Amino acid sequence: MRKPILAGNWKMNKTRDEVIQFTLAVTNRLPLNVECIVCAPAIYLRDLVKRSPDNLHIGAQNMHELDSGAYTGEISPIMLKDTGVEYVILGHSERREYFNETDAKINAKIKKALEVGLKPIICVGEKLETREAGKTNELLESQIVKAFEGVNIDNTENVIIAYEPIWAIGTGKSADSKTAEEACGFIRSVLSKIYSENVANEIRILYGGSVKETNIAEYMAQKDVDGALVGGASLKPESFIELCNKSA
Ligand code: 13P
Repeated sequence: MRKPILAGNWKMNKTRDEVIQFTLAVTNRLPLNVECIVCAPAIYLRDLVKRSPDNLHIGAQNMHELDSGAYTGEISPIMLKDTGVEYVILGHSERREYFNETDAKINAKIKKALEVGLKPIICVGEKLETREAGKTNELLESQIVKAFEGVNIDNTENVIIAYEPIWAIGTGKSADSKTAEEACGFIRSVLSKIYSENVANEIRILYGGSVKETNIAEYMAQKDVDGALVGGASLKPESFIELCNKSA
């Protein structure tokens, strides 16, 4: 059985006061049968690790692929681990687009995250023009194959994939649940070819893109969708609590 995941991606939002208020507001109100995660700006990670209730897990939104060195402004996987962070989003489309992250870079980050004991949430997804050209599966296959090149998966619980169609992110135009299911099912079939059917059946695959309290249940009802990666709707504690409870 794949345990459902509801992961919030706060992106570049919130003040420290708001972060602390969030932890207080969600305490004792999150379900135990869902892995509830918030991926926060790096500067708030220590506060979150210290103040969050036990069933709220903490993730970063990015990391460098090396342990240390002359990389001004970067944060290393060792630092994240040292801070008590459990998860890290890798290859988000905003990082691919605005920070020139390549598939090769994402592959190096995935290997390093697993090596230091961080659980990567690996994002893939197509632009609207790719979907309209009928090339979604081709792109998803290429992103998955390149992301996992040379990656050993010892524990399938530690690897999470998020299918996030770029046209659905922050636009209010969510993919319908059939489209999300088709893409997540396709990603599972690619994993099956790379690893095995067993491994593919154990890895959690999330949908992301304009998920909110009113549509989460439709995604959760799909066979191959194991949860959601949520941006805007994860910011308010009340919405986050409702999203987590509806993911059970
Ligand atoms: P929205 O939920 O705001 O569309 O963002 C999705 C996303 O990018 C999560 O990583």
